[in-house]
Amino acid sequence: MKVTTDILMQKKKSGDKITVLTCYDYPTAVWQDSCGVDIVFVGDSVGTNILGYSSEKEVTVEDMAHHLRAVKRGIDSAYLLVDLPYNSYESEKSALKNASYLISLGADGVKLEGFKPDIVSYLVSHGIDVCSHLGLTPQFHDQKRFKATTAVDAMKLIDQSMKLQESGAWSIVYELVPEEVAKESSIRLTIPTIGIGAGRFTDGQVLVITDMLGINDLDFRHVTKFGDLKTQSIRAIEQYVSSVTAGYFPGESNIKHLSDLENQSFKKMLLECKPMDKIE
Ligand code: KIV
Repeated sequence: MKVTTDILMQKKKSGDKITVLTCYDYPTAVWQDSCGVDIVFVGDSVGTNILGYSSEKEVTVEDMAHHLRAVKRGIDSAYLLVDLPYNSYESEKSALKNASYLISLGADGVKLEGFKPDIVSYLVSHGIDVCSHLGLTPQFHDQKRFKATTAVDAMKLIDQSMKLQESGAWSIVYELVPEEVAKESSIRLTIPTIGIGAGRFTDGQVLVITDMLGINDLDFRHVTKFGDLKTQSIRAIEQYVSSVTAGYFPGESNIKHLSDLENQSFKKMLLECKPMDKIE
């Protein structure tokens, strides 16, 4: 069954946790979809995690479109969320143009960072599902530091969340926010909250796929590495290199032979054929 915002709202009401993972390619999308991840999310973290950029700020709408197309091909049921990258929603006009483009490629909704109620309501009034993102917003903060760590900032975050909800956002991501703050905001909002480094009480959790699979060396407090793909991949590549250089690969099981009959004719033709003869 296709996951919709209604189903995700229902999960909030019933207290069932919403699962979200970032995704940047087709095979991972197939795995996430078949494992029942609710929201497969093409995040702009593709820039630093996959494309080798030094900052999310370098990610373009075309980068997002390229990865979105690949992920879309692997999705049957999950809700497909895509980030609007840096500088792609600075005005209502550019936000609508870029969001509409990504929706036309198959995204179910867009996410945008920061407190931007006017942009949110403009997109929503044009029929686009919008998820907001508060707390640490990598497009605008260079340092990975917790936000809303004072009572005043915590109240501000809750206030902004209520206003984004009023503007029509269907969900809010909280990144690096103390648990108490994310919890109180989640209780007050009727829309689902999704946390990354925001404690246990948001309505859902999101992790960056390359962090949780152990593909990179990053070590964040908010991440559990559920896999160790870096070690496994390096071991496999080393084995490949030594197998090829030692002549063990390809082995008999990797090889296609000519049938005996074809091989005999082939050898006969080779003998009959002068080196420069053209073979029709
Ligand atoms: O792009 C991303 O990976 C994100 C998550 C941190 C929520 O925005």
